[in-house]
Amino acid sequence: MSRRRSCVAGAATLLGAGLSLSGCFTERQNEGARIYATHCANCHGAQGEGLQRLIPPLARADYLTKNRANLACLLRKGLQGPLVVNGVEFNQVMPAADSHLTDSQLTNLLNFVQTSWGNQGEVFTISEVSAQLEGCGVVPDSR
Ligand code: HEC
Repeated sequence: MSRRRSCVAGAATLLGAGLSLSGCFTERQNEGARIYATHCANCHGAQGEGLQRLIPPLARADYLTKNRANLACLLRKGLQGPLVVNGVEFNQVMPAADSHLTDSQLTNLLNFVQTSWGNQGEVFTISEVSAQLEGCGVVPDSR
């Protein structure tokens, strides 16, 4: 089920392009996993486990649920300052993600995080991610 749920963004894209949905359940999920492996896993770990008190976990992180409305901006702008994840305080710096990642790629990445390692977070649509980015001043031209 999680694969299907995580495919909302991919389905929207494929429908928009008038293509068949059949590739959706493999490729889009893989895209999120690939982006995670390239851009996030070196810090957050292949299993989203984090690193002691330096890097917070993503696996079963209460932060994801509590801050769902800010996750796209967090990725595009980075993050610094104290925050608490599962009762543990972190106070480090996360760099902004690669600005070449499209809204669609960010959506697939977030949905991979939301549905991996035991996470059962609510998945995102591309338009939701775009709206979040607009809300924090990431203008369409820079996307
Ligand atoms: C250079 C290491 C580094 C990279 C690369 C990185 N992060 Fe982070 N991330 C951090 C640190 C450190 C924090 C905590 C920042 C703070 O203390 O304010 C954090 C915080 C977070 C949080 C909020 C806290 C939590 O654990 O839920 C999320 C969500 C997150 N990162 C997701 C990602 C995703 C997705 C990627 C890939 C695009 C990524 N990060 C790439 C280091 C990194």
